[in-house]
Amino acid sequence: MSTPTTPGEAPFDPAILARMASAMFSALPGTPPTSLPGAASGLVPGAQFPANIAPPGSPLVSPAGFGPSVPGTPIPQGQIPGANVLPASPTQLPSLANRAPALLPHAVAGNGVPDNVLSVAPAFEPRSGGTVLGVPQQVGAPVSPGSPSAPQAAASPFYFLNNSYGHPAAGASDGFAIHDPFAGLAAPTAQPALPPSPPSAPAGRDAQFYFVDAVRLPNGFVTPAKPDPRGPDAVPLAGSGQHPPFDVNAVRRDFPILQERVNGKQLVWFDNAATTHKPQSVIDRIAYFYAHENSNIHRAAHELAARATDAYEGARERVRKFINAAEVEEVIFVRGTTEAINLVAKSWGGQHVGEGDEIIVSNLEHHANIVPWQQLAAAKGAKLRVIPVDDSGQVLLDEYRKLLNDRTKIVAVTQVSNALGTVVPVKEIVELAHRAGAKALVDGAQSVSHMRVDVQDLGADFFVFSGHKVFGPTGIGVVWGKREVLEDMPPWQGGGNMIADVTFEKTVFQPIPNKFEAGTGNIADAVGLGAAIDYVNKVGIENIARYEHDLLVYGMAQLGAIPGVRLIGTAADKASVMSFVLDGYTTEEVGHALNDEGIAVRTGHHCAQPILRRFGVETTVRPSLAFYNTFDEVDRLVTVVRRLAGQRRSG
Ligand code: ALA
Repeated sequence: MSTPTTPGEAPFDPAILARMASAMFSALPGTPPTSLPGAASGLVPGAQFPANIAPPGSPLVSPAGFGPSVPGTPIPQGQIPGANVLPASPTQLPSLANRAPALLPHAVAGNGVPDNVLSVAPAFEPRSGGTVLGVPQQVGAPVSPGSPSAPQAAASPFYFLNNSYGHPAAGASDGFAIHDPFAGLAAPTAQPALPPSPPSAPAGRDAQFYFVDAVRLPNGFVTPAKPDPRGPDAVPLAGSGQHPPFDVNAVRRDFPILQERVNGKQLVWFDNAATTHKPQSVIDRIAYFYAHENSNIHRAAHELAARATDAYEGARERVRKFINAAEVEEVIFVRGTTEAINLVAKSWGGQHVGEGDEIIVSNLEHHANIVPWQQLAAAKGAKLRVIPVDDSGQVLLDEYRKLLNDRTKIVAVTQVSNALGTVVPVKEIVELAHRAGAKALVDGAQSVSHMRVDVQDLGADFFVFSGHKVFGPTGIGVVWGKREVLEDMPPWQGGGNMIADVTFEKTVFQPIPNKFEAGTGNIADAVGLGAAIDYVNKVGIENIARYEHDLLVYGMAQLGAIPGVRLIGTAADKASVMSFVLDGYTTEEVGHALNDEGIAVRTGHHCAQPILRRFGVETTVRPSLAFYNTFDEVDRLVTVVRRLAGQRRSG
């Protein structure tokens, strides 16, 4: 992912093409995306796209075997190739009677779907305002406050929050009476496969989503997900050309918060390095868990414990596949990346790092990958050593080689810098660490949402990441570790769930992963993370990487061309992040000016003070991209920064 910083170097075609397509879309009000012209229709003669990747805005086309029965035909809105379908029969209903005890506590659900989906009929819930689970009640065009069609407070768009929900954004001045996540979207198309909606169920939601493809059951319940028609173990379609073409306008519909308004403007979320937004399928999956599966796991002899255990262990299996770990037991759930690194530093570090030993990190690290090692070094009399970076923000591998020696015990590096966006050559760093006899930890907090991660290929001993940065919930994260390394480590917290036997004299611990999961974990959010992984798999991480790359190249070129802008972090290999400072303005001033226009960026030190100081700054403005961002949004950002720059010059 080479990232030129001058307009002349930018490969213009996908970016320009996408913008032209976008412009055409907006000139065609009411035209659904499936019929919109894209670049493929000949807007730019001779424009080339990589095989299997259509430019944003292209019509969805079905590859063989998915979606409509005739390959190559457009896919109806709300349906996507590879989307799950209802279980073929209710035989998947869980039953304690037919669960082999040996499979507990690690029974794996096998697919992403609550296996009791047909066993429940909770759907229509008059006590909650008479709507169906997870279904917005108000779908449609903006309405004027006070108009006859304006919803009353009690008829909030979401059944579950009623009038406590949805304070309109302060300063909203465009006639939106309520938060309406679907306002302005193309009218939904029918889903022929579905039975008719019950009369009291709100119309119009079923087909709103790109591939969630919610199915309404006769009882009115809307399934949060459906199994893959290719079977529960079907591998995501990565790299096979079987992914649907990427359509940013379609995926955006899956993220209700993107329709939020801030200061009267539609929200532009460029704070993805801090946290990402959640697709409706994740929101629904968590709601479904609490509505139908909620229980503690692993230890009760009742149905809901079995459901919750299956859901939780199913999420663990999803994580395993997502990062291509060899074994599901190598996946440990924690609160997030920070807790993950603390676990490794306290447990592995406490056992293996001693006086005079050395720990290597890079200059790029987030504080979460500095402080726990610093604490360990202080406690043990060990030394923290730092790989320097060049002026583009890339690590200097030759300098790294010089740091390695037989006292090096562990090398802990980020895969993508949260402050600069540098993609670090972690595979090479891991290999060199191993050659020196050290272990290696890779911080994937900023990488997993932008590129394919294969922990077996990386070869590290530990890989850690957070759910909330990959479209999942907060409060859930992962430590992956090699089995032999994890088995050799002592638990870092003691309590329930992690023990096999306790007497006052001695405790026998559970095998991995439970040994590291003391107490009641964040069950629902682990399940939510599983749903987020399903979502990413269905969009296709390669599609995401390619689209984001084009967006990043475009954004860096546009920002870099503004007089007075200094880009911080210009490595050839970058992902997502476009940190900058602007002459004559504090970063806070730029952040406020952007917020005035509804654009969210982080300003400050980004919990990575050492790397910012390496570039002579204390803070930057940090727009950070995700696959639901658009070229138009980049233009909105650039317009504000250019205006500020112009005012400074003329003032
Ligand atoms: N680590 C997050 C960030 O970089 C919070 O903003």
